[in-house]
Amino acid sequence: MPAKKVDPHLFVVMGGTGDLMHRKLLPALARLHEANYLDQRSSVLGVARTPGMDDAGFRTWACDALAEEGMVSESLRRWCETSFYFEPLGHSDVKDYRGVARRIEKIEEATGLSGNRAFYLALPPAAFPTTITDLGKLGLNKSKGWTRLVIEKPFGRDLASAQELNALVHQYFDESQTYRIDHYLGKETVQNLLAFRFGNALFEPLWNRDRIDNIQITVAEELGIEKRAGYYETAGALRDMVQNHLTQLFTLTAMEAPASFDADAIRSEKVKVLRSLTPIEPENILFGQYTAGTINGEHVPGYHEEPGVAKESRVETFVALKLEIANWRWQGVPFYLRTGKRLPKRVTQIAVTFKQPPVSVFRSFDSCLVHSNVLIITLQPDEGFDLSFEVKSPGQPFRLETHNMHFRYDTPMPLAYQTLLLDVLAGDQTLFVHGDEVEASWRLYSPLLHEYRPMAHPYAAGTWGPNVAHTRMGQDGRSWILTALSKTKAQGKLHGD
Ligand code: BG6
Repeated sequence: MPAKKVDPHLFVVMGGTGDLMHRKLLPALARLHEANYLDQRSSVLGVARTPGMDDAGFRTWACDALAEEGMVSESLRRWCETSFYFEPLGHSDVKDYRGVARRIEKIEEATGLSGNRAFYLALPPAAFPTTITDLGKLGLNKSKGWTRLVIEKPFGRDLASAQELNALVHQYFDESQTYRIDHYLGKETVQNLLAFRFGNALFEPLWNRDRIDNIQITVAEELGIEKRAGYYETAGALRDMVQNHLTQLFTLTAMEAPASFDADAIRSEKVKVLRSLTPIEPENILFGQYTAGTINGEHVPGYHEEPGVAKESRVETFVALKLEIANWRWQGVPFYLRTGKRLPKRVTQIAVTFKQPPVSVFRSFDSCLVHSNVLIITLQPDEGFDLSFEVKSPGQPFRLETHNMHFRYDTPMPLAYQTLLLDVLAGDQTLFVHGDEVEASWRLYSPLLHEYRPMAHPYAAGTWGPNVAHTRMGQDGRSWILTALSKTKAQGKLHGD
């Protein structure tokens, strides 16, 4: 594929001095600048309500923010000073956006830009509807060049609100202009999942109900909710992680081969998987909430002790669920998903457990248990693949041992936001969530939020979630698996938690 081409453009960040801009967007843009994707005319316009902020203040703010990320160079300083602009916003009405519209035209005139614009909504979700409406009413939804709208997650709080937001977006912007971000799709190994599945003839014939026993997707975090109680109390792990990140990993793992590697083909295969899912039964989902505990030898507070959390809050910080797909490929193969905050370590991985040999020819030997082959795709912290297989232990008596074939990237990975921003600027929607997809996903999870919300079982911080998560797996005759992330990376043995 040719390197992506980025037209000269104006990148407008609504919420231009916020945390997302500071920690993610700015470093990603800076890397694109350093890799020469952004030509001299391309500019960044920050729009925010920050009192007293102006162009000069914004340039200093951007330079300082980059320095905090360890990005300091003469070229970056010059870039901030020559390419950054700021437009203040008053109090949410269309008049403010007239100022933004005028400013955009002035910058384009001064820099010679020809009207290519990306609007990035780095805003709290409550501000999405008014901002989209104001942009639309002022005609900022189109221009002489291309206009693209980038919307952060969460896209809606349930099916009804996602449908409402989609309808509003489509009132002003076409689907082809709309980029719904899920930063997991920007992670290198997520894209590698497609390369792995569809670039290797070895695995695809095995990728079905004949050969696979079950698939587990784990996204574990050591961190708690940090200082985000305001958001998290209204979200919880199902909205924060499952509906988006875990569901993306799930659909990419389960989908059929697309007709080609392009946005429409891939996104339509993902939607088909979601539409083939059977509704989640109450016994196939459970919630947990962390209590005080110990992680890496340090005491950490429980969810109820976190600043800003209501004492009686029932919000879930852990979710485990079983998904079942009713199609020819996957009928009868359970997909187990789990995510939680304050678990023992940060790890994101997909574990594919293959079926055992139909008969063990070693059954007459003592302690000669045959284990299933397991393929582990690790997304973080160290991206790569492990495939376990059985070998004979040297010498006597005849015994089997499990060993791993192991692949790890040894080059630094691009930042997820770097990949995604490049795609927005190059007009590639492959790694963005389609409106149909977001609705199909909410259709699955909405009943859990409204009709039969599970109670949250307590679990001590530093453990792998509530005991009942293990008991339920036991009832299915299975256990949760993880690779031991051995320091030597030599022989990550597979084991249950
Ligand atoms: C965000 C969630 O979308 O993803 C956070 O809001 C979570 O709660 C984060 O911590 C995890 O992302 P990553 O890339 O660190 O796995």
